[in-house]
Amino acid sequence: MKGQETSSLPAPAVSRRTRSRWTPAARLALAILTFIVFVEFWKQLGNSFSSKFLSKKSKFQKCSIDTYLATGLEFLKTAEQPPLEEYILRRNNLAKALVEDEIDAFVVEPGYTFSYYANVTQPQWEVWEPEERPFLMVLRPETLSNGSIVANTSFLVPHFEEVRARLLGMPFEDEISTVVYEEHWDPYTTLWTAPMWGEKLSPKLMVDEEMRDFIARGLSMNGFTVVGLSGEVEAVRQIKTEREIGILRAVNTGTVEAIRAMRQCLYRGVTENEVQEVLDNTMRASGLDPFFDIVEFAESAALPHGGHDGTRKLKPGDFVLIDVGSHLYGYSSDVCRTFYPPFFPSPPPPESNVTEKMSVWQLVLDAQAASVRAMVPNATAASVDIAARTVIEDAGYGEYFTHRLGHSLGIKAHESPYLNKGNVASKLRPGMVFTSEPGVYVLGKFGVRHEDILVVKDDGEAENISGGFAKNPWTP
Ligand SMILES: *[C@@H]1O[C@H](CO)[C@@H](O)[C@H](O)[C@H]1NC(C)=O
Ligand SMILES: *[C@@H]1O[C@H](CO)[C@@H](O)[C@H](O)[C@H]1NC(C)=O
Ligand SMILES: *[C@@H]1O[C@H](CO)[C@@H](O)[C@H](O)[C@H]1NC(C)=O
Ligand SMILES: *[C@@H]1O[C@H](CO)[C@@H](O)[C@H](O)[C@H]1NC(C)=O
Ligand SMILES: *[C@@H]1O[C@H](CO)[C@@H](O)[C@H](O)[C@H]1NC(C)=O
Ligand SMILES: *[C@@H]1O[C@H](CO)[C@@H](O)[C@H](O)[C@H]1NC(C)=O
Repeated sequence: MKGQETSSLPAPAVSRRTRSRWTPAARLALAILTFIVFVEFWKQLGNSFSSKFLSKKSKFQKCSIDTYLATGLEFLKTAEQPPLEEYILRRNNLAKALVEDEIDAFVVEPGYTFSYYANVTQPQWEVWEPEERPFLMVLRPETLSNGSIVANTSFLVPHFEEVRARLLGMPFEDEISTVVYEEHWDPYTTLWTAPMWGEKLSPKLMVDEEMRDFIARGLSMNGFTVVGLSGEVEAVRQIKTEREIGILRAVNTGTVEAIRAMRQCLYRGVTENEVQEVLDNTMRASGLDPFFDIVEFAESAALPHGGHDGTRKLKPGDFVLIDVGSHLYGYSSDVCRTFYPPFFPSPPPPESNVTEKMSVWQLVLDAQAASVRAMVPNATAASVDIAARTVIEDAGYGEYFTHRLGHSLGIKAHESPYLNKGNVASKLRPGMVFTSEPGVYVLGKFGVRHEDILVVKDDGEAENISGGFAKNPWTP
């Protein structure tokens, strides 16, 4: 009865009301509205899923950048953009070297060496492709009345490009001096007939190693005696000035500090590609400009220059190997660290089977330390490589150290002299800057490399300028 009453009495009222209020058009509208709400609900649900997914990497990046910035970026203090005086100093050093090597002039076209002496790179002169019309900087030594030797610089330039050459704003105290040629002239003969050579019949030119062959041949077939880069002239760019060392110290320390900051934020399952992206963005937060970044986990690291696709996921017990370079004021960093992520405990659990990896990690560090002790003035480049290599060979891993110990670096990441066991001709001089980067690579198993930057001092062993050596796999 009660049920009958409640169900029978209000029901007609409701259905009457419904019928009167919800016309077919309203019903349609309601259906559409319901559909929209339904779609929106799933969209929101999907969004919250993907934002949860994305936020893991965003959190990683925020953690890394915040940790990096919290260091105060003190390392930047040793760097300044090279001023005009720096370029004058470099050109005058070159002038003295030309006198010592008995060369009449040094000739270079836009590229790394041109930018070292006059701040113009190849793409800054010609963005589309290397230009077939020679644009040459010609540096001659000049002896002043008080005996000082200074550089006197001229530019061989197509006539229609002369104004553009001036607009480059190259770092000179005065207007640049030019020798111009028309499109139908021979540029080399034009240079040879210029008054700067005086009575010299066949001026002796030293061409830079980046000089293209057709220009070197053009010069040698049109009156000049041409020789390749060597001797004191080559040593000028190899011996870094105080300002260059200040920039190299800043950019290399800043790169190592970025790895250390990023490491603290690593999590299980992150991929090599994600680590690379976050590390690059971390370095950018201090104004560094990354230009290569090799990130390799576990057995991927057995290939020293990478080669896998970067999708490997990080697991406890995997070594992380990172070899990375950035630019600051045109100068390169090039450092490498091999380490454990923070979620892998120290000391490692016995079942993790990392005894061999741990001992190789220490072995490579010992080899690096031996190379630093051997990096003294007047030592040969070969002897430094051999010092590190002997440590690794004595431990039975000689066949797994497959590359040279290191190279010099400056505006290029790889510069001469090169530290390999055959280079007995190159002697170390104070102010030279080298990488020391021994490694052990066991294919299918693991790879370990430590790379730091060192300056050869006036006496004693070399000084590290990359933020201090690694201490252990948890303190890289
Ligand atoms: C060198 O060139 C850079 C731009 O490429 C410029 O910022 C800098 O001021 C130049 N240096 C000098 C001394 O002109
Ligand atoms: C020689 O003169 C130049 C230019 O006047 C000056 O810059 C230089 O310091 C002088 N060198 C010596 C050794 O006095
Ligand atoms: C450079 O050499 C040219 C040609 O010998 C000469 O005319 C000019 O005065 C020199 N420039 C300087 C700044 O000494
Ligand atoms: C432990 O690692 C070594 C290489 O370091 C490997 O040869 C060996 O098979 C591993 N043992 C186990 C139980 O995984
Ligand atoms: C290196 O050799 C040069 C000349 O050969 C010498 O003047 C210099 O004292 C040597 N330096 C050291 C630290 O032995
Ligand atoms: C690195 O060199 C600095 C001097 O620049 C020195 O104080 C520091 O002890 C060195 N660090 C390591 C780890 O050798």
